[in-house]
Amino acid sequence: MTDPSYFDRMYARSDDPWGFDDHFYEQRKRDLTVAALPRARFGSALELGSSTGALTGQLLPRVDRIHCVELHPRGVDIARRRLVADSHRVRLEVADLITWTPTETYDLVVASEVLYYLDSEPLTRALGWIGDQHAAGATVVAVDWRHPVSEHRWSGDEIHRRLTEVLGAAAGGYRDSDVIIEVFEPLGTESVAVRDGLAPGAGASPTG
Ligand SMILES: C[S@@+](CC[C@H](N)C(=O)[O-])C[C@H]1O[C@@H](n2cnc3c(N)ncnc32)[C@H](O)[C@@H]1O
Repeated sequence: MTDPSYFDRMYARSDDPWGFDDHFYEQRKRDLTVAALPRARFGSALELGSSTGALTGQLLPRVDRIHCVELHPRGVDIARRRLVADSHRVRLEVADLITWTPTETYDLVVASEVLYYLDSEPLTRALGWIGDQHAAGATVVAVDWRHPVSEHRWSGDEIHRRLTEVLGAAAGGYRDSDVIIEVFEPLGTESVAVRDGLAPGAGASPTG
Protein backbone atom coordinates (compact mmCIF):
# COMPACT_ATOMS: atom_id res chain seq x y z
CA MET A 1 0.00 0.00 0.00
CA THR A 2 1.06 3.59 -0.45
CA ASP A 3 2.90 4.66 2.72
CA PRO A 4 0.14 6.00 5.05
CA SER A 5 2.46 8.88 6.03
CA TYR A 6 1.89 10.20 2.48
CA PHE A 7 -1.79 10.79 3.34
CA ASP A 8 -0.81 12.28 6.75
CA ARG A 9 1.46 14.74 4.97
CA MET A 10 -1.19 15.60 2.39
CA TYR A 11 -3.91 16.26 4.98
CA ALA A 12 -1.49 18.16 7.27
CA ARG A 13 -0.71 20.72 4.62
CA SER A 14 -4.22 21.74 3.62
CA ASP A 15 -7.97 21.22 4.09
CA ASP A 16 -8.06 20.62 0.34
CA PRO A 17 -4.93 18.51 -0.21
CA TRP A 18 -5.51 17.66 -3.88
CA GLY A 19 -7.17 20.98 -4.76
CA PHE A 20 -10.57 19.38 -5.31
CA ASP A 21 -12.35 22.69 -4.70
CA ASP A 22 -9.93 24.89 -6.64
CA HIS A 23 -8.94 23.09 -9.82
CA PHE A 24 -11.17 23.26 -12.89
CA TYR A 25 -9.83 19.77 -13.73
CA GLU A 26 -11.32 18.39 -10.50
CA GLN A 27 -14.70 20.12 -10.90
CA ARG A 28 -14.93 18.91 -14.50
CA LYS A 29 -13.94 15.36 -13.47
CA ARG A 30 -16.77 15.29 -10.94
CA ASP A 31 -19.23 16.78 -13.47
CA LEU A 32 -18.25 14.10 -16.01
CA THR A 33 -18.57 11.37 -13.36
CA VAL A 34 -22.05 12.45 -12.31
CA ALA A 35 -23.10 12.94 -15.95
CA ALA A 36 -22.06 9.34 -16.71
CA LEU A 37 -24.41 7.87 -14.07
CA PRO A 38 -26.85 5.73 -16.07
CA ARG A 39 -29.85 6.26 -13.76
CA ALA A 40 -31.62 9.40 -12.68
CA ARG A 41 -31.46 8.22 -9.09
CA PHE A 42 -29.99 5.39 -7.04
CA GLY A 43 -31.24 4.19 -3.68
CA SER A 44 -28.05 3.34 -1.84
CA ALA A 45 -24.51 4.26 -2.84
CA LEU A 46 -21.05 3.37 -1.59
CA GLU A 47 -18.16 5.76 -2.21
CA LEU A 48 -14.60 4.54 -1.67
CA GLY A 49 -11.84 6.97 -0.68
CA SER A 50 -14.34 9.81 -0.32
CA SER A 51 -11.75 12.26 1.06
CA THR A 52 -13.21 15.70 1.82
CA GLY A 53 -16.63 14.89 0.36
CA ALA A 54 -16.40 17.03 -2.78
CA LEU A 55 -17.63 14.20 -5.03
CA THR A 56 -20.05 13.02 -2.33
CA GLY A 57 -21.72 16.44 -2.44
CA GLN A 58 -22.27 16.09 -6.19
CA LEU A 59 -23.52 12.51 -5.93
CA LEU A 60 -26.07 13.37 -3.23
CA PRO A 61 -28.73 14.84 -5.57
CA ARG A 62 -28.69 11.49 -7.44
CA VAL A 63 -28.84 9.08 -4.46
CA ASP A 64 -31.14 8.54 -1.49
CA ARG A 65 -28.27 7.71 0.85
CA ILE A 66 -24.53 7.27 0.62
CA HIS A 67 -21.96 5.37 2.68
CA CYS A 68 -18.48 6.88 2.42
CA VAL A 69 -15.37 4.90 3.36
CA GLU A 70 -12.20 6.95 3.83
CA LEU A 71 -8.82 6.11 5.34
CA HIS A 72 -7.98 9.50 6.80
CA PRO A 73 -9.93 10.97 9.75
CA ARG A 74 -9.07 14.50 8.63
CA GLY A 75 -10.75 13.90 5.28
CA VAL A 76 -13.82 12.58 7.07
CA ASP A 77 -13.92 15.62 9.41
CA ILE A 78 -13.83 18.01 6.46
CA ALA A 79 -16.49 15.95 4.63
CA ARG A 80 -18.68 15.97 7.75
CA ARG A 81 -18.60 19.77 7.82
CA ARG A 82 -19.22 20.04 4.08
CA LEU A 83 -22.16 17.62 4.12
CA VAL A 84 -23.78 18.66 7.41
CA ALA A 85 -27.08 19.66 5.75
CA ASP A 86 -27.48 16.10 4.41
CA SER A 87 -26.06 14.27 7.43
CA HIS A 88 -29.21 12.12 7.73
CA ARG A 89 -28.40 10.63 4.27
CA VAL A 90 -24.63 10.35 4.62
CA ARG A 91 -22.70 7.75 6.59
CA LEU A 92 -19.03 8.64 6.93
CA GLU A 93 -16.76 5.82 8.05
CA VAL A 94 -13.03 5.97 8.73
CA ALA A 95 -11.73 2.63 7.46
CA ASP A 96 -8.91 1.11 5.45
CA LEU A 97 -9.85 -0.62 2.20
CA ILE A 98 -7.02 -3.07 2.86
CA THR A 99 -9.27 -4.82 5.37
CA TRP A 100 -12.73 -3.23 4.97
CA THR A 101 -15.50 -5.36 3.49
CA PRO A 102 -19.09 -4.26 2.88
CA THR A 103 -21.80 -5.86 5.02
CA GLU A 104 -24.69 -4.79 2.79
CA THR A 105 -25.37 -4.45 -0.91
CA TYR A 106 -25.55 -1.12 -2.72
CA ASP A 107 -27.17 0.08 -5.94
CA LEU A 108 -24.12 2.16 -6.87
CA VAL A 109 -20.43 1.75 -6.02
CA VAL A 110 -18.12 4.68 -6.85
CA ALA A 111 -14.33 4.27 -6.73
CA SER A 112 -12.75 7.55 -7.78
CA GLU A 113 -8.96 7.84 -7.66
CA VAL A 114 -8.46 5.38 -4.84
CA LEU A 115 -7.89 1.80 -6.05
CA TYR A 116 -4.40 2.56 -7.38
CA TYR A 117 -3.15 3.12 -3.83
CA LEU A 118 -3.71 -0.55 -2.97
CA ASP A 119 -1.04 -3.24 -3.20
CA SER A 120 -1.65 -6.37 -5.20
CA GLU A 121 -3.31 -8.53 -2.54
CA PRO A 122 -5.65 -5.85 -1.10
CA LEU A 123 -6.52 -4.73 -4.64
CA THR A 124 -7.45 -8.28 -5.62
CA ARG A 125 -9.48 -8.59 -2.41
CA ALA A 126 -11.32 -5.28 -3.06
CA LEU A 127 -11.96 -6.22 -6.69
CA GLY A 128 -13.46 -9.47 -5.37
CA TRP A 129 -16.14 -7.78 -3.30
CA ILE A 130 -16.68 -5.06 -5.91
CA GLY A 131 -17.38 -7.96 -8.29
CA ASP A 132 -19.82 -9.43 -5.75
CA GLN A 133 -21.63 -6.07 -5.46
CA HIS A 134 -21.83 -5.85 -9.25
CA ALA A 135 -23.13 -9.42 -9.53
CA ALA A 136 -25.79 -8.54 -6.94
CA GLY A 137 -26.98 -5.62 -9.09
CA ALA A 138 -24.74 -2.64 -8.36
CA THR A 139 -23.65 -0.20 -11.02
CA VAL A 140 -19.91 0.37 -10.55
CA VAL A 141 -18.32 3.67 -11.56
CA ALA A 142 -14.53 3.99 -11.54
CA VAL A 143 -12.55 7.16 -12.15
CA ASP A 144 -8.76 7.29 -12.43
CA TRP A 145 -5.97 9.73 -13.25
CA ARG A 146 -3.93 8.54 -16.23
CA HIS A 147 -0.59 10.29 -15.63
CA PRO A 148 2.21 8.58 -13.65
CA VAL A 149 2.29 9.34 -9.90
CA SER A 150 5.05 7.89 -7.71
CA GLU A 151 2.64 7.13 -4.82
CA HIS A 152 0.32 5.08 -7.07
CA ARG A 153 0.92 1.32 -7.13
CA TRP A 154 -0.82 1.02 -10.52
CA SER A 155 -1.60 3.30 -13.42
CA GLY A 156 -5.20 4.34 -13.94
CA ASP A 157 -5.35 2.24 -17.10
CA GLU A 158 -4.09 -0.85 -15.21
CA ILE A 159 -6.88 -0.41 -12.65
CA HIS A 160 -9.47 -0.26 -15.44
CA ARG A 161 -8.01 -3.36 -17.11
CA ARG A 162 -8.38 -5.22 -13.80
CA LEU A 163 -11.94 -3.92 -13.38
CA THR A 164 -12.82 -5.09 -16.89
CA GLU A 165 -11.45 -8.58 -16.10
CA VAL A 166 -13.73 -8.76 -13.05
CA LEU A 167 -16.83 -6.88 -14.22
CA GLY A 168 -16.78 -7.35 -17.99
CA ALA A 169 -16.73 -4.56 -20.56
CA ALA A 170 -17.81 -1.11 -19.44
CA ALA A 171 -21.22 0.04 -20.64
CA GLY A 172 -19.86 3.51 -21.22
CA GLY A 173 -17.59 6.19 -19.96
CA TYR A 174 -15.24 8.97 -20.84
CA ARG A 175 -11.51 9.03 -21.54
CA ASP A 176 -8.96 11.69 -22.39
CA SER A 177 -5.23 11.96 -21.78
CA ASP A 178 -5.83 12.93 -18.11
CA VAL A 179 -8.67 10.80 -16.82
CA ILE A 180 -10.57 7.60 -17.45
CA ILE A 181 -14.16 7.22 -16.23
CA GLU A 182 -15.94 3.91 -16.76
CA VAL A 183 -19.44 2.71 -15.89
CA PHE A 184 -19.95 -1.02 -15.37
CA GLU A 185 -23.58 -2.00 -15.48
CA PRO A 186 -24.86 -5.36 -14.18
CA LEU A 187 -25.03 -8.04 -16.87
CA GLY A 188 -28.10 -7.72 -19.10
CA THR A 189 -28.87 -4.10 -18.13
CA GLU A 190 -30.54 -2.26 -21.00
CA SER A 191 -29.23 1.11 -22.13
CA VAL A 192 -30.67 4.33 -20.77
CA ALA A 193 -32.54 5.03 -24.04
CA VAL A 194 -34.01 1.50 -24.15
CA ARG A 195 -35.19 1.77 -20.55
CA ASP A 196 -36.67 5.17 -21.39
CA GLY A 197 -38.59 3.70 -24.36
CA LEU A 198 -36.61 5.76 -26.88
CA ALA A 199 -34.85 2.83 -28.57
CA PRO A 200 -35.80 -0.82 -29.14
CA GLY A 201 -34.38 -3.36 -26.70
CA ALA A 202 -32.42 -6.46 -27.75
CA GLY A 203 -35.59 -8.57 -27.54
CA ALA A 204 -37.73 -6.18 -29.62
CA SER A 205 -39.17 -7.52 -32.89
CA PRO A 206 -38.21 -5.57 -36.02
CA THR A 207 -40.88 -3.21 -37.38
CA GLY A 208 -41.32 -2.04 -40.96
C1 LIG B 1 -6.82 11.35 -4.53
S1 LIG B 1 -8.01 11.24 -3.21
C2 LIG B 1 -9.53 10.98 -4.16
C3 LIG B 1 -10.75 11.63 -3.53
C4 LIG B 1 -12.05 11.46 -4.28
N1 LIG B 1 -12.43 10.06 -4.36
C5 LIG B 1 -12.02 12.09 -5.65
O1 LIG B 1 -11.84 11.39 -6.64
O2 LIG B 1 -12.14 13.30 -5.74
C6 LIG B 1 -7.71 9.60 -2.56
C7 LIG B 1 -8.38 9.37 -1.23
O3 LIG B 1 -8.38 7.95 -0.99
C8 LIG B 1 -8.05 7.74 0.37
N2 LIG B 1 -7.45 6.41 0.50
C9 LIG B 1 -6.24 6.01 0.06
N3 LIG B 1 -6.00 4.74 0.41
C10 LIG B 1 -7.10 4.32 1.07
C11 LIG B 1 -7.44 3.09 1.72
N4 LIG B 1 -6.59 2.07 1.74
N5 LIG B 1 -8.65 3.00 2.33
C12 LIG B 1 -9.51 4.05 2.32
N6 LIG B 1 -9.24 5.24 1.73
C13 LIG B 1 -8.03 5.38 1.13
C14 LIG B 1 -7.08 8.86 0.71
O4 LIG B 1 -7.00 9.09 2.10
C15 LIG B 1 -7.69 10.03 -0.07
O5 LIG B 1 -8.59 10.75 0.73
